[in-house]
This record gives sequence, structure tokens and C-alpha cells, in this order.
Amino acid sequence: MFNDTIQGLSRTHYCGELRENHIGQTVTVAGWVQKNRDKGSLVFVDLRDRTGIVQLVFDDCTPQELRKKGASVRAEYVLMAKGVIRERASKNPELPTGNVEVLVEELRILSRAETPPFEITDQTNVKEELRLRYRYLDLRRSEMQHNLIMRHRIVKAARDFYDKHGFLELETPLLIKSTPEGARDYLVPSRVHPGSFYALPQSPQLYKQLLMLSGYDRYMQIAKCFRDEDLRADRQPEFTQIDVEMSFVTEDDVMNLNEAFMVDVFKQVLNIDLPTPFRRIPYSEAMNRYGSDKPDTRFGLEITDLSDVLRGTGFKVFAGALENGGSIRGINAKGAAATLTRKEIDKLTDVVKTYRAGGLAFTRLTADAESSSFEKFLSEEEKAAVRSALGAETGDVLLLVADGNNDTVLNSLGALRVHLAQRLDLIPANSFDLLWVVDFPLFEYDEEENRYVAKHHPFTSPKAEDLDKLETDPVACRARAYDMVLNGTEVGGGSIRISDPDLQQRMFTALGLDEETQQERFGFLLEAFQYGVPPHGGLAFGLDRLVMLMLGKDSIRDVIAFPKVQNASDLMSRCPSPVEEKSLDELHIRIQTGE
Ligand code: AMO
Repeated sequence: MFNDTIQGLSRTHYCGELRENHIGQTVTVAGWVQKNRDKGSLVFVDLRDRTGIVQLVFDDCTPQELRKKGASVRAEYVLMAKGVIRERASKNPELPTGNVEVLVEELRILSRAETPPFEITDQTNVKEELRLRYRYLDLRRSEMQHNLIMRHRIVKAARDFYDKHGFLELETPLLIKSTPEGARDYLVPSRVHPGSFYALPQSPQLYKQLLMLSGYDRYMQIAKCFRDEDLRADRQPEFTQIDVEMSFVTEDDVMNLNEAFMVDVFKQVLNIDLPTPFRRIPYSEAMNRYGSDKPDTRFGLEITDLSDVLRGTGFKVFAGALENGGSIRGINAKGAAATLTRKEIDKLTDVVKTYRAGGLAFTRLTADAESSSFEKFLSEEEKAAVRSALGAETGDVLLLVADGNNDTVLNSLGALRVHLAQRLDLIPANSFDLLWVVDFPLFEYDEEENRYVAKHHPFTSPKAEDLDKLETDPVACRARAYDMVLNGTEVGGGSIRISDPDLQQRMFTALGLDEETQQERFGFLLEAFQYGVPPHGGLAFGLDRLVMLMLGKDSIRDVIAFPKVQNASDLMSRCPSPVEEKSLDELHIRIQTGE
């Protein structure tokens, strides 16, 4: 059977916008059938588009043929209907359009639909896998439509803001040179250059710097980025950045302007006034107090260093940690003794163990009893000193980690802190905690690669006062870098760049790249730097993360139209997928099958 055409009909209104002031008007609406109810002489059809739902009605004045047609439609059919708006006999206060209905005079069935694998409703407990398998249906749900419409508004606010401040939106290529540093590249084989590959950009970093060198002065781009890394709730293999770069600026210029963007986008999209200026926390303070370089400061549970009060202790585990150059640190979970039973504390031990801590020492101070896993090994003075340093009172639970590796202590307590805040329900709902982390180290040690790698990227400038330590004491060098943190997630990061070719070469050398590799990978950049480079810096926001956090979602998949799942595949189109032998031949590629 053929579907009707829209010949002669054109939409006059969206479903969700019809109100009492439209009563008496003839309108044409179009959309998908939410549901229909056939009551014999009365037929109702709820029609849905991206703005909402309106009720179509066919009554005993409607020609029988037309009423029968109305009764024949099923969920998810696509319709166009022309009719007169009238007041509803029984109103529906749940719907914004609930006081009116369309008395249908003309109905076109534009497309029929199979029964969908799940109902298109807001409250859905359908598994995410099924939703992603039929993402085009999932995207019909008003919750998803709201998320994507908000995403659009955030992107629009970004474009408007940066345009207003003199930024040019310029595109950079997606097929670029592979310069592995940081995450793994996605590679694209070249047909015309056998054995050679393009890479998809992990970010437009080098191109935006070159645009500064070419005099474009202020650049922004809504940029697609690709990183072949392990996925998490806030990571996708392809994601979007709001990417920004500016010339003739210092850290303060970049931070102030991008802070102003944040204030603007929260006001425009959520009508929230963010307090300014955002707090700036040095990296070392963030690590020591919160055990994280992206601290969530919506709750307390700060970390206390107990190394000094326990120095010289006879308790082997603690003494050993200190002897090996590590530390002993603790958190006081105030008033948590009632919630944190022994069993619960065992679960917390699992949390710190995933961060390589050997275990979790605890003291539970309930009103009627005290229990501790470690106090019996301490002297009375040590025990009192620990309790006093942590401000311990009846009802508290003290949680300590000791390790010869200081990072292990901080990382495990940092994770424990966030876990505890969730468990103890300490995180206020609908609150936005924005801050900058500054004074990052320039390098970090990569245990897998057994060498120093750039903490941000190799183009980040060291602080002027640390320049002389680049070769002699790289660990002590700090970077002119800054991250923006929102509710404990890194939403953006950037730096002032190296603009001196000699310093850039020193940086590459410090990262273990010999002269030949530097030339081979970054020769074009070093060459460009010979021709006049303005001082420049910038930052990139993770758009997906920003939208997720602004909408209070737990996963960036909820704010991306067609996301990938954990193993980087798309459940709907089923990619990645094998390709024809012929395509592989053209690309000079032979697949090695595993053992
Ligand atoms: P960086 O690597 O910190 O900096 O990335 C900037 C921001 O992008 C977001 N982000 C991601 N979002 C989703 N999935 C991912 N896999 C992912 N990886 C990163 C984060 C992060 O803060 N070129 C530099 C920026 C600069 O120096 O200007 C860069 O890419 O929110």
C-alpha cells in the first residue's frame, strides 16, 4: 500500500506549541503517533514531535471514512493532520497542550511503522544496549531530545560568545600526520602512498598554534577529536572540543576570558549565575588536600598528612611506608560510624586496593565501642596524636592509607573520598563547583614507557623560573598550564605554549626524542617557528563533558546522538566491521589473523 503524500498540506504549527489562544484556528501538524484510543464514535490520537504532544480527535461529526483512518493508525506511524483547534472536554493538566485538541478534517498517513522494540516514553528502564541498538528510536524520547537541544544551545552560546570577542571559527584538517604522544592515534591508510598513514587528530593543537603564527590572533573551533584509549563514562573515542587559541596573551588573559564564557553559557542555557572569580588551586594543594588534580570541593572529607605525627613509630607497616619515602595519610569520615559498618569498611578497602594501596587502616568510634585495625600497634601518644590531627570525635570513622609510594597514598585516598561522599550522600544536588587547577608539573613519569612524558602536551611552556631545571631536575619544573574542573571532572585544559624554537627543541629532548625523531615528527613546526611566532596560548573544553555536567547526567553517551560503547563499537551500525578484500588490496593492507 502506498503512503499518502503531503501534496497540498504544509505544517503550520509544532504539536507542543498549541494553546487556548489557538482555539478556532485551522492548523496543520505533523509527527509520530504516541498512542491512539478508539472509542467507537470517538477516536483520539496523541501526535508527538520534538516540541511535545497534542491530541487529535475524530468525533461523530467526522466523516466515517476519516474516523476509520484515524482509528487505523498505530504507534510511531508518521502523520500529517489538518483541523480546527477546540477546547478539550476533559482537560489533561499533565500536558502543556492539555486544554486543547485538533478536530481533524484531513489526515495523511505518511509512513507506517513496525511495533518498536521498546515504547517511546520518558520513564524507561530499557537496557542501554537496546536503546543504542535502536538509537534512532531512543532519540525520539523527549529526554534525549531535550539533551540534544540543550547541546545545540550550548554550542550556539559558545559560537556567539567567542564571535563577540573577536574569535574566528576556522577549520583544521581531519587527516593529519601521526605524532604519537599522549593517547593512541586512529590511523587511516593511504591508497596512493603505500605503507603510509594519516592520523585522525587527537586535537587541533598544532594547527591552532600554526594559525596563531599565521596571524589569525583569536581562533575557535567546535572540533572533532579522536583518541584510541580505554573508554569510561566520561570518555569517547571520538568527542568534541570547544577549542580556543589566542595570541599576545598570558595565563590570566586566557583563564579570565574562558571563565567569562562559562559564566555566559550557564546564564544563557540554565539561567544560573556562577560566582566569580573561580577559585584557583595549585596542583600540589589539590593533590594533598583532595588526592586529585580534579578535586570535587562540593564536600569536605579532606585528606590529612599524618606522616609527621607518626615518624619514628614502631608499627612496621607505617614505619616501612615512611622509610621508603612514602607517607601515611587519612580521612575523617565525620559522623559516619553508624553507616560504615565493618562490612562496609571492607568494601572501602577494595576501593583503595584498586589504586594499588596495600590496605585501609581504620578506627571506628561508635558511642558504645571503639574498634581499630591499627591503634593497638601505636603508643598512646601516637594514637592521641593521630586522633587529634584528624579532629576525631565520637561517631567518626578514621580511614588511613600508608604506602612507600606517595602517589599511591594520594590517588587511593582521592578515590576513597569521592566514593565516601557518594556513599554518605554528601554531594548536594544541582550544585556547580567550578575551579581552576594551576601550577601543574611539566612532566610526569610514565611507568609503562619508563620515561618522562609531558603532563599536558609537549608544546606547553615551562614556567620562566623553572627553565634552568629542564635538563637537571625535570620533576621540579612547573608548567604554564591550567585545567578547569567542574564537579570533580576536568572540563577543560590548556596552557601558554612554547614559542621559542630552541626551547621547543629542549623540551623534545627532555622528553627523550632524539634530533632525528624531532625533525621527522615535528620538523614542520620547528621550521615554522623560524618565521616569527607571537606568544600564544589557549585551552580546549570537552563539549560532551560540559553538556553532561550542565544537564546533571552520569554519562556522556546521554548527550551524544550516536555514541560508541565501552569496546568502541557502534551497536546500531555495527562498526567497526570487516571490509572487502578489494578495499584492503587497494590500501596495500594484509590482515594478520591471531593465533
Ligand atoms: P586535553 O587533552 O586536556 O587538551 O583535552 C581537552 C578536554 O577535552 C576533554 N576530553 C575528552 N572528552 C571526551 N572523551 C575523551 N576521550 C576526552 N579526552 C579529553 C576533556 C579535556 O579537558 N589540545 C589540548 C588543549 C589545549 O592545550 O589547548 C587538549 O586536547 O574535558
